[in-house]
Amino acid sequence: MSETSAAKIETVVVDGLALAESLRDEMAREIEAIVASGRRPPQLTVVLVGDDPASRSYIKGKQRACARIGAAAAEYLLPESTSQKELLDLIERLNRDDGVDGILVQLPLPKHISPEAVAEAIDPAKDVDALHPLNFGRLLLGNAKLVSCTPLGVLAVLDRHGVPLAGAHAVVIGRSNIVGKPVSILLQQRNATVTMCHSKTRDLAALCRSADVLVAAVGSPRMVKADWIKPGAAVMDVGVSEVDGKLVGDVDFDAAIGRAGIITPSRRGIGPMTITMLLRNTLTAYALRFPTPDPTPEPAPESSSDASRDASTDRKSSAPTTAAPPAGPKA
Ligand code: GUN
Repeated sequence: MSETSAAKIETVVVDGLALAESLRDEMAREIEAIVASGRRPPQLTVVLVGDDPASRSYIKGKQRACARIGAAAAEYLLPESTSQKELLDLIERLNRDDGVDGILVQLPLPKHISPEAVAEAIDPAKDVDALHPLNFGRLLLGNAKLVSCTPLGVLAVLDRHGVPLAGAHAVVIGRSNIVGKPVSILLQQRNATVTMCHSKTRDLAALCRSADVLVAAVGSPRMVKADWIKPGAAVMDVGVSEVDGKLVGDVDFDAAIGRAGIITPSRRGIGPMTITMLLRNTLTAYALRFPTPDPTPEPAPESSSDASRDASTDRKSSAPTTAAPPAGPKA
């Protein structure tokens, strides 16, 4: 598309909240069905160390989102002075607690606590942030069970808007473990050609200008200028900063209107989708630990003359004599 026709582009501003709401409705119905079957709802536990106001507000949003879909939620608000050992001990207790399906330790952590040690302490089966090396490794290998929430939210927005990814050039600015790295892997798995950019990248503007899909995840207010955007590109703005009391993204949003094909705003954009994917991961973690019983059980085997045979010693036997249903948690 030429520069002159770029002015005529009708930019679609993504309504991340509307998309989030429809996905939350679906999850609410899933939980209703779980509870109707006599099992307890999935449970998310969030841990915050310190009293960063932004983090407090994020975790309140997570609790509200759980309540909205009928998931159970718990939070631990620990003082800034909490030692790494105390935090790891709490994580160990949560790992062992069968009533906890998802564990999220809010970032950033105080300087004296290693985020890597925390990520490694969380049971990979309850790791709804997908930062444990096992989950990260599985993502790289293409067989992830849990994937970090913001990258999942970005992919859901792109899919919902029908943005073609196969063969597209995707440029990701920012190489964080929580967004940049996983989103680049997901895009690559969808057959995009991905360029990772960071603080040492040369001629960032030119690279961005060649992007069909641009993901900005650095937290640098309005860093991406309108003329960095290829006309018609899909622009996913993940960065959120506060400037003069206003939420601002990594992209110069106002200037990008009329240039981008679609763009996420800093409010009601990727944020609600991140929380929605946290709920999705909590449901996934629950389903992995407590698979839904198959509603159509296999027909019972015909009675055999060798009824005394111990099925437990016969590995080829298609139906054990005492077929225990998959254990589900009680309501
Ligand atoms: N702080 C900001 N975003 C996130 C997130 O996705 N997960 C965690 N644990 N902390 C955050």
